[in-house]
Amino acid sequence: LLPSPLISIFLSSSFTVFSAPINEDSMTLFHGEDFHILLPAPGLEVTFQNRSAQRSPDVVLMRGGVVVNNKTKLNRQLSHLIIDAVGEEHEGVYMVKNPEKPEDVRRITLTVRDCSNEQIIKYGDNYHIQLSGVIPPITLEYKPSAVEANQTSRPALVLLTRTGLSRDGYQGRISVSKQQVTLSTVTGADEGSYTVRDAEGVIQRKVCLNVKEIIIYIALFAFQAKETLGFQDRLSLEGSVIVLDQATGRDEGQFKIIDFLGFTVSTVHLSVQPYKLESLYVAIIALLGLLVFLLLVCLLSCLIKVKKRAKRAAALEKIAQNAGKEDEGEAFREVVKNITKLSEESKHSQGDNTEKSQSTEVDIKVSICDIFLLKLRL
Ligand SMILES: *[C@@H]1O[C@H](CO)[C@@H](O)[C@H](O)[C@H]1NC(C)=O
Ligand SMILES: *[C@@H]1O[C@H](CO)[C@@H](O)[C@H](O)[C@H]1NC(C)=O
Ligand SMILES: *[C@@H]1O[C@H](CO)[C@@H](O)[C@H](O)[C@H]1NC(C)=O
Repeated sequence: LLPSPLISIFLSSSFTVFSAPINEDSMTLFHGEDFHILLPAPGLEVTFQNRSAQRSPDVVLMRGGVVVNNKTKLNRQLSHLIIDAVGEEHEGVYMVKNPEKPEDVRRITLTVRDCSNEQIIKYGDNYHIQLSGVIPPITLEYKPSAVEANQTSRPALVLLTRTGLSRDGYQGRISVSKQQVTLSTVTGADEGSYTVRDAEGVIQRKVCLNVKEIIIYIALFAFQAKETLGFQDRLSLEGSVIVLDQATGRDEGQFKIIDFLGFTVSTVHLSVQPYKLESLYVAIIALLGLLVFLLLVCLLSCLIKVKKRAKRAAALEKIAQNAGKEDEGEAFREVVKNITKLSEESKHSQGDNTEKSQSTEVDIKVSICDIFLLKLRL
């Protein structure tokens, strides 16, 4: 014996199946896919009510189990009626009727979508549609994404005619070359499907555009602010750049930039961390400090050397001046000896000195620059 709730479920479900007057179904296929209509019994009738031509009579596709429309066919098992490669013209309602059970009717509403795959382009970038193998002049048509999704049979907007004329609002945005047609600086308002027709008017490309906002992540180091100001005092527009002054931890979060139609241009994720010197930078700065100190010591010793030499030269001059008065021979020998020594020392120390002082100068410049850059980076 079955428990009673199960019995009631069983009864109610079989009751719905037998009492339903019409089975409603809806189906969405992408452009170019095949449409399979289930034939649950032999001898059925299948008709088509064209969505684009609602006033015209229904088209009979199958009668008494026999295919009467040569654009449809049966599969090998005879279980399905197949419409190959659906397009917009196949949108509408398909009715499957059983002449032996007039109450058993199945209605399938077919929607055909253009965008089986979308190309994702960043807000403000250019959108290229490849044209290789398409015979010019081309026609470019567009359907906004809302239309593309469920009203495919609505006529498309012609963006570019065979004669090269652009639609209002698109002048200067569409350019065509042999290889591609380009729509420049796309926004959310350009999302949807694009159809390229060749010189004969035959559809050669059907592609879809999805515009993505630009996402930016910024991590800031900021000092703790004493007073907190509102955004109105700190946000400003400088040319095409938005500046937020004195960012603090309170500004953490998402900033969204939205265009005049309400589409998101970009999202900026801001995270703020308290300002602190990383230990690596501390070590680098300490080393640079040491280097500067050593160079200063070196400079100092050079100066002392120069001073010593000046002293000796002065002493020499004195000896030379006194030379005439005292023992001439002895004084002259001393002068010659000293001059030789001095000139040798001078030569040596001069070469040494200029080299050193030049390199010192460069080193100090570089080090100061580095410290400055480091500070900027922090
Ligand atoms: C399909 O049928 C139509 C008339 O219903 C006819 O004009 C056309 O030539 C047929 N096509 C083929 C391939 O048999
Ligand atoms: C549906 O109607 C449109 C407009 O009259 C026509 O172009 C299209 O071929 C029709 N679809 C079918 C499958 O006959
Ligand atoms: C089409 O789909 C959009 C959402 O994707 C919806 O808002 C709109 O009402 C639908 N239109 C029709 C005619 O079904």
